[in-house]
Amino acid sequence: MDLTVKIGPLRAPNPIFLASGTWGFGEQLRKHLDLSLLGGVFTKGLSLKPRQGNPPPRLAETPCGLINAIGLENPGVEAFCKYIWPWLSSLQPNILVNIFGESVSEFLEIISRLATLPFAGLELNISCPNVEKGGLSFAHDPGAVKELVREVRKIYKGFLVVKLSPVGPIFEVAHAALSEGADALTVANTYPAMAIDVWRRKSALSRTFGGLSGPAIKPLTLKLVFDLWQRFKTPIFGCGGITSGKDVLEYILCGASAVQVGTANLLDPQSATRILQELKELLLSLGEENISALKGELKLDA
Ligand SMILES: Cc1cc2nc3c(=O)[nH]c(=O)nc-3n(C[C@H](O)[C@H](O)[C@H](O)COP(=O)(O)O)c2cc1C
Repeated sequence: MDLTVKIGPLRAPNPIFLASGTWGFGEQLRKHLDLSLLGGVFTKGLSLKPRQGNPPPRLAETPCGLINAIGLENPGVEAFCKYIWPWLSSLQPNILVNIFGESVSEFLEIISRLATLPFAGLELNISCPNVEKGGLSFAHDPGAVKELVREVRKIYKGFLVVKLSPVGPIFEVAHAALSEGADALTVANTYPAMAIDVWRRKSALSRTFGGLSGPAIKPLTLKLVFDLWQRFKTPIFGCGGITSGKDVLEYILCGASAVQVGTANLLDPQSATRILQELKELLLSLGEENISALKGELKLDA
């Protein structure tokens, strides 16, 4: 059976990657999961300076998902290069670094500090406010995304992934990113959401809003992947609510080249390898030999 995938210039032994922010930097996960068995990993989002994130409560469970308002807590790019990269890079060859900034120049500064590391790719998280544009999220501003990717491309020639927000002008944003040289899209980040604590008559989260992830979002994100693949025929990482091998195949049939597993890691640290095993068994039962040959192969006739 051939599970290898090619996503732009990146080659991976299988299509299962870990999604940013849902496994830390593997400090705990590595005790339960052999990261080298996966296609690759996307690191927790890195900013220029360390960030504490939001005060608690930062998580609220919903019947079929999780709302998080972590606030992008991370140790900053310097600490990543100095203390995390040396051991993380020994665990998995395909490490893709997820970064975010509050301005184009902040993104560029982070990239310049990462320059000496041989990471496999860069993922731009654009679901954050752009202070140079009055706090409007990059993901709501195709012009800002165009400028961001154009400037990034001047200093970074490697594998470049842009992670889309599922809300906002997603087709215009995708077009802006691809027209300036992004190699692939991650579809998608979490959905803006709320949870209420009726006893306190307050939001269940310290920051009123959060982002919904987990099985609840899978049907929504699946459609985004389908629509974006139909429109752009570009490499896509499907990401949203994946908990089984069948979920992975659904994303691949809709046009994803590979997938990222997120919230499932929080429930069970061995989710990703279980999902990989399930995918193999599913392909075997379907009599399919090659995962990449199934990409976008959804039959559209009734
Ligand atoms: C606790 C938590 C932290 C996250 N942190 C980040 C992050 O730092 N950067 C990022 O781009 N996405 C982050 N995400 C979004 C996930 O990478 C993923 O896009 C989203 O959760 C949807 O996938 P899932 O339903 O499989 O979790 C985070 C999600 C969760 C649940």
